[in-house]
Amino acid sequence: MQEKDNTRRKVLIGLTSAVGLSGLPFVATPFIAAWNPSARAKAAGASVTIDVSKMQYGQQIQVAWRKQPVFVIRQTKESLAGLKKTLPKLSDPNSEAIDEPYRGLNLTRSKSSEYSVIAGVCTHLGCSPKYHPEVEPKPWDASWSGGFFCPCHGSMFDMVGRVFKGVPAPTNLPVPPHFFNGSILTIGEDGGVA
Ligand code: FES
Repeated sequence: MQEKDNTRRKVLIGLTSAVGLSGLPFVATPFIAAWNPSARAKAAGASVTIDVSKMQYGQQIQVAWRKQPVFVIRQTKESLAGLKKTLPKLSDPNSEAIDEPYRGLNLTRSKSSEYSVIAGVCTHLGCSPKYHPEVEPKPWDASWSGGFFCPCHGSMFDMVGRVFKGVPAPTNLPVPPHFFNGSILTIGEDGGVA
């Protein structure tokens, strides 16, 4: 029991809530580094627990799990509706090339209809893709509808981490096992029934 407690330490989200002058959602990427499990827990790939209720719509945060970044994004209605527009650009819209744990459950690809939970490591050579939720022309895509851009070699992913055609990254960003208990998100455990 104590071991279980040790492996599920809560991480406080140091969300610095701020809205830019433009009124756009706050999109900075604070890195959650407060989690400090024991060496033994680390070796076992301890799960991470965070409260996501304070996240603003459109905000992304990073959580460290197994020494790797995991992106958590609170999607807006608009961003989820916009996924349709990006479909023709995607290489594997249904994640058939990877083990997709919660296929078909939600547009977010997660167990939540609002929050996406995505590995923050580019499937090309392991850089960390950057979050660009703005719907506006970008140097890498004149009809950008929001998503992730990897600055290392130009791979593009949509708002839920699905890879574009014709980029170096071969597959979608994986979805780690996770579950929600209200606003408490646990990454690293499946938690049984969705
Ligand atoms: S590591 Fe991301 S495109 Fe190469």
